[in-house]
Amino acid sequence: MNPDKQDKNAYTGKASGRQCWESPSNIALVKYWGKYPGQIPMNPSLSFVLKESVIRICIDYDIKPEYSFKLTGFELNGQQNEGFARRIESFLTGIQTHFLFLKHARLKITSESTFPHSAGIASSAAAFSALALCLCSIEAKQLGTNTKNREFLQKASFVSRLGSGSACRSLYDGMVLWGESEFIHESSDEYAVRLDNERVHSDFYTLRDAILIIDDGTKPVSSSEGHALMHQHPFREVRKQQAHGNLKKLLLALSGGNKKLFCEIVENEALSLHSLMMSSNPGYLLMKPNTIHAIDVIRRFRVSTNIPLCFTLDAGPNIHLIHFEEDRQAVRELVQNELKDFCKEGKWIDDSMGNGPKQF
Ligand code: PMV
Repeated sequence: MNPDKQDKNAYTGKASGRQCWESPSNIALVKYWGKYPGQIPMNPSLSFVLKESVIRICIDYDIKPEYSFKLTGFELNGQQNEGFARRIESFLTGIQTHFLFLKHARLKITSESTFPHSAGIASSAAAFSALALCLCSIEAKQLGTNTKNREFLQKASFVSRLGSGSACRSLYDGMVLWGESEFIHESSDEYAVRLDNERVHSDFYTLRDAILIIDDGTKPVSSSEGHALMHQHPFREVRKQQAHGNLKKLLLALSGGNKKLFCEIVENEALSLHSLMMSSNPGYLLMKPNTIHAIDVIRRFRVSTNIPLCFTLDAGPNIHLIHFEEDRQAVRELVQNELKDFCKEGKWIDDSMGNGPKQF
């Protein structure tokens, strides 16, 4: 695909206005871990977006031919945030070849996250997808093109990826795949695609995610450092094969409504991700003792009740307890009675599969 279909002379005029998007975080079932230059993933990953964990971003823009690019302000939840502002500035500088108006734009960005304060949840997927959508909307306004079609979302996914790899999966509802896979012919390393409804049994549209906040402190090793350690990793090639194999099995589980197989693959992916961290050089551990205690309780509960629920982990100690709508009450009781004590100040978030980004 060419995500940059635009008239190279279209941005010499003046324009100003405001574009706003709300975009969600997503949780991976098959994990993206390791990347090549240009944020090209080492393996395909599959995820779904969350409903409650979202960021709302507005960009006020002023474009004039005589201007050069400037980020005139950045606020997160009503406060200046220098660290995030620098990351966003370097992202905006890096994507100027994809939006020619950017070279002549002054942008003021305000953002608000609904994530509870210090929830320890990665916000970059939500933030970069919302930013990319705002930029694509500014461009669409300039060109008089549609913001509802496939091309628009594809470009937003492509651009989000350049900010944070997993962000490219936040553009769609349902099950979302990023990375080339022989099983999905429209898949790409450059942007994510939504799996067609025929590929996903209706039960999987009722997924929920009880997020157990085991720890909300800063991680000792960031995701970027973790991705980089995959280059020299002794299990790198095996991991790539494993991810393709797990994706194949997960696609089978999704289309056949096989919840047991689904749970097996999801947990295998979570534990494989963390075993890759432990066996990196240097090795490191992001799980906390309470992560293990909670996993133990979840597995024992599954055996004793036969309820199809499973855990997954991102690059951190917090547990995503994945379950189905019909088991919501049982999971609530499990969290209240047996898991809450493992959470930092008893914090957990009752989230579910969301509908994807919204313009406002
Ligand atoms: O998008 P990044 O660079 O923050 O990497 C995210 C990696 C994991 O969350 C661990 C897995 C994933 O696929 O989301």
